Amino acid sequence: MRIDVVTLFPEFVRQCAGIGVVGRAQERGLLQVETWNPRDFATDNYRSVDDRPYGGGPGMVMMIDPLRAALAAVRAAAPEPAHVIYLSPQGARLTQRRVAKLARMPRFTLLCGRYEGVDERLLAHAVDEELSIGDYVLSGGELAAAVLIDAVGRLQEGALNDAQSARQDSFSDGLLDCPHYTRPEQDALGEVPPVLLSGDHAAIRRWRLKQSLGRTWLRRPDLLARLTLDAEARQLLEE
Ligand code: ADE
Repeated sequence: MRIDVVTLFPEFVRQCAGIGVVGRAQERGLLQVETWNPRDFATDNYRSVDDRPYGGGPGMVMMIDPLRAALAAVRAAAPEPAHVIYLSPQGARLTQRRVAKLARMPRFTLLCGRYEGVDERLLAHAVDEELSIGDYVLSGGELAAAVLIDAVGRLQEGALNDAQSARQDSFSDGLLDCPHYTRPEQDALGEVPPVLLSGDHAAIRRWRLKQSLGRTWLRRPDLLARLTLDAEARQLLEE
């Protein structure tokens, strides 16, 4: 898949998308991340991309023209229509379900705001969807874009080395993840739960599911309200 990012800080986005699982996904040709700097599309000598807000008040607002030109260049660069996502605290909350849907799209574009935001007319005409990564305010959309690229990139088929690990993620089944342990078996900090050493795969699956349910109940009871367990999970709990 291809993700185009319109940002005043292209190096930052490229660096974030160049490391770890997502960097490897790019190397494997599973994901292509391209950046576009609105400053390159500014037409005045100062390469201005922002101006004072009408009606007064603090801060600056990103202007229509450089963003419109950058988005036109993005559209021209690939054949599929570009679904445009604006990252802002006013957007709908990003969830794993939304991430999974975006991961199946062939292409989308991320628009990163800076300063007080973007001229509303550009948002009304050029943006298909507005997303927030949480109820807090960042100084720009770049960190949110990096979060989204990471979450979507790791879901690309072949990005993770163990095909199971995306399915076992927190939230992928509506529950938080279970605890994990590795060597040594005995340590001053405690023991590994014996069931994980038993070799009884059904018992291990049941234990993990119960841990996930318990954690979700204790830490995120809001998630349980919306939960429907799949047939395999129901069967495990009945055994
Ligand atoms: N830009 C600034 N704050 C943000 C947030 N919480 N989510 C997405 N984009 C943002």
